Amino acid sequence: MCGIFGYIGKKEAKNILIEGLESLEYRGYDSAGVAIVEDDEIKITKRAGKVEELKKVLLKNENSGTLGIAHTRWATHGLPTENNAHPHFDSKKNVVLVHNGIIENYLELKNEFKIKTASQVDTEIIAELLSIMPEDDNLEKLKHVSKLLKGSYAIAIIFKNEPDAIYLAKKESPLMIGQDNDDIFISSDANAFKKYCKSFYILNNGDFAKITYNNIEFFNKNKKIYKKLNKFINTFSFQSNNKYIMLDEIFQTPDALRETANYFSNFKDIKSYFNNIDKIYLIGCGTAYHSCLYGKHYLNFLKVPIFTEIASEFRYGDYKITKNTLCIFISQSGETADTLACVKKCKCKTLAITNVPNSSITFACKKTILMKAGWERAVASTKAYSCQLLIFYLLRCLLLDKQPHISSLINAVKKYLATLNMETLSKNLLNYEKVMFIGRQGDFVTAKESALKLKEISYLNCIACPSGELKHGTLAIVDNKTLVFMIATQKKLMSKNLLTKDEIEARGGKCLIASCFEGYDIKLPHTQSNFLPIISILPFQLLACNVSILKGYNPDKPRNLSKSVTVE
Ligand code: G6P
Repeated sequence: MCGIFGYIGKKEAKNILIEGLESLEYRGYDSAGVAIVEDDEIKITKRAGKVEELKKVLLKNENSGTLGIAHTRWATHGLPTENNAHPHFDSKKNVVLVHNGIIENYLELKNEFKIKTASQVDTEIIAELLSIMPEDDNLEKLKHVSKLLKGSYAIAIIFKNEPDAIYLAKKESPLMIGQDNDDIFISSDANAFKKYCKSFYILNNGDFAKITYNNIEFFNKNKKIYKKLNKFINTFSFQSNNKYIMLDEIFQTPDALRETANYFSNFKDIKSYFNNIDKIYLIGCGTAYHSCLYGKHYLNFLKVPIFTEIASEFRYGDYKITKNTLCIFISQSGETADTLACVKKCKCKTLAITNVPNSSITFACKKTILMKAGWERAVASTKAYSCQLLIFYLLRCLLLDKQPHISSLINAVKKYLATLNMETLSKNLLNYEKVMFIGRQGDFVTAKESALKLKEISYLNCIACPSGELKHGTLAIVDNKTLVFMIATQKKLMSKNLLTKDEIEARGGKCLIASCFEGYDIKLPHTQSNFLPIISILPFQLLACNVSILKGYNPDKPRNLSKSVTVE
């Protein structure tokens, strides 16, 4: 949520900053801005809207500065206007900064220090405080201010009296630094500077950094510290064939599954971590929570109770966690604030399943299983979801001492994707006002994930409901403007499913069935039941993407959402 990028080196900063912001747009794209130092003067350019808008003006500007900070915003406080866009100056223009996170006590601080701000954002209070702090040394000012702030922050700052330095501070929100000889890069996500650097530093909570030309120094609140360099773990890169990243990512699923399955051999010793456990909690948000729901199905042979929990709920609930409880945290990004807060609360066995090495959740958990889905950039998760389900299938096989059938799975996914065409259905869907996804058992999880995909990128009013629950209320909204997709992969439940279809159609609704059995509307492949969760979502991922495009939206950048939700 919000992306920070910074550069200090021998090249012109503006192109590098824009390129960095483009890579970070998955974290937010309400507005964007840069501050570049040219001839010791700090020049800010900001625009409401996507990075594209900023790029149009910035690249026309004459600015040969070689030090700058940049930001792409996902609004939390105040509208996504140019005035609220980062970077923010203090009123005396002594300090300029970009911030990712939320300053929870900014109103209290405004009152306490009698500060008036020009924008509606919480960030401005940091600039004002830095500007009025009594210390002479900028690092000491920053340490002082950080003690006053409650909440989360990654901050990059330029002080007017020290225009050849960028200062950083971090608490909860991610911040990394990469170096390639004379070029130093700062980013919320190391992937954004990966093409320039072989390794990078990660700031931990409470760390500060001072970066000048060719030099990086780290500090904590007491002293200078030394940090180790982290190597990039080879995530494999994919070719882009489509105009939209989301379409690319759906079609990368077979490769992502293969890489993830191959890499899983590194984590086989996780088996013993399941010894002597009294229960399991599977915890995540959004799509990752849906993976938890399927995770329970994959692990249901275990003799311990398994609970699935939405992280934003779990973090405030009371649970009977013992030292023998295993909490499994699913997070594509490894940075989701609610999920991370749950890890911190769990004083028990903790296992992260993430797609991003060195992410906060991987650091916070005692054990990690890393997926290799490759960088997922479209906001709506597709290939990462498939890989999360695959991990649960692999765990199931590992714990049962069974050989997983990876080639059959990958071939089935590949073959299915090659023939899958959802275009006509996507166009027909536009004739309906309401869309519903229903299913029983595991198929209900696919229904939930399908509804989430469709609503997040096409803004359609759609819900998911367990098929059998329809008659207990939801059927009331079914009429001739309602399209229902039923996912039906279990033979033994087919007669019940057909009854449900009749109930929908008797109310004027249209019901289309996706099934692996012959004679239904959307064909799913006939394959082993453990593969079906991974395969049955594919038509609906594609449907959501098509509908979004048909409605004239960009599926990669849906309104009001962000891929990496690093604030509560
Ligand atoms: C956001 C994204 C979803 C994602 C969820 C959890 O809501 O828009 O696509 O599923 O966060 O993200 P995580 O990185 O923890 O899997």
